[in-house]
Amino acid sequence: MIRTLIKLKTELIRGKNRNFLWMFLHEFSYAEFSSAIEMLQAAKLNYDIKISKNLIDHALDEYNHTKLMRSIISKYTEDNPDIFRNVRFCPNHTIKKGYVDPSKFLFQKYGIERFFIFVGINEQNASKIFTKLRNRCTDTLRKIDSKSGDQQSYAYNVTLASDVIGKIIRDEENHENFSLIYASRNVKKWKFLFFLLWERILNNIRHFCASNSTVNKWVAASIYLIVITLIIPFRFAFSIEPPRMNNLVSKENSDLML
Ligand SMILES: [Fe+2]
Ligand SMILES: [Fe+2]
Repeated sequence: MIRTLIKLKTELIRGKNRNFLWMFLHEFSYAEFSSAIEMLQAAKLNYDIKISKNLIDHALDEYNHTKLMRSIISKYTEDNPDIFRNVRFCPNHTIKKGYVDPSKFLFQKYGIERFFIFVGINEQNASKIFTKLRNRCTDTLRKIDSKSGDQQSYAYNVTLASDVIGKIIRDEENHENFSLIYASRNVKKWKFLFFLLWERILNNIRHFCASNSTVNKWVAASIYLIVITLIIPFRFAFSIEPPRMNNLVSKENSDLML
């Protein structure tokens, strides 16, 4: 889910393991595929034909991003079959991993106004993450010693990834512009500003928590502590009746013994 993505992004940008690039693209391909599904659902539920057309174009872009990412991963796994098992794409995992909730799609959950603001902010965020990722690819390429064969094929895959990411960044910027321009024109100004700020705050909190495991542990520990403290006065409700200590050797119970 989003936490996995942010964690992978943080690890990739800190950059210790070369497989992170492929794991990152693998996880993001699910996110892109899920966005495509959300956009199609929104297009189906929308009554304005122009908006629906735009949402379908957005969905096609997202499907294309998935395809592009999968193509780099396939290229990489051709040379590294040992990691292939970990990066196999199963479309229904978008539900299992929690990217898509078929009982309530984002458009139904948020309504048209908030939906476009939510999409705009998330696209903005995605293009920032992809820009960092592309910079990381450039850094990696600079460090690669292309004399050995293995390094050469690695450099080729990283260059491929960098080019594809560049194309994806341009699309994400278009999606961001369309969504935020639409929202700014069609949503009341105070509501637009409020949701814009709200989505930015939520996004920052999610990223901060997911990329700082120590903060995460402390937040979880504080929640546990609060819950336990609140439960203490009601502990009688959870008390379990002590087990009956049957004395099987006693005269009364001896009949039950074989
Ligand atoms: Fe995308
Ligand atoms: Fe997008």
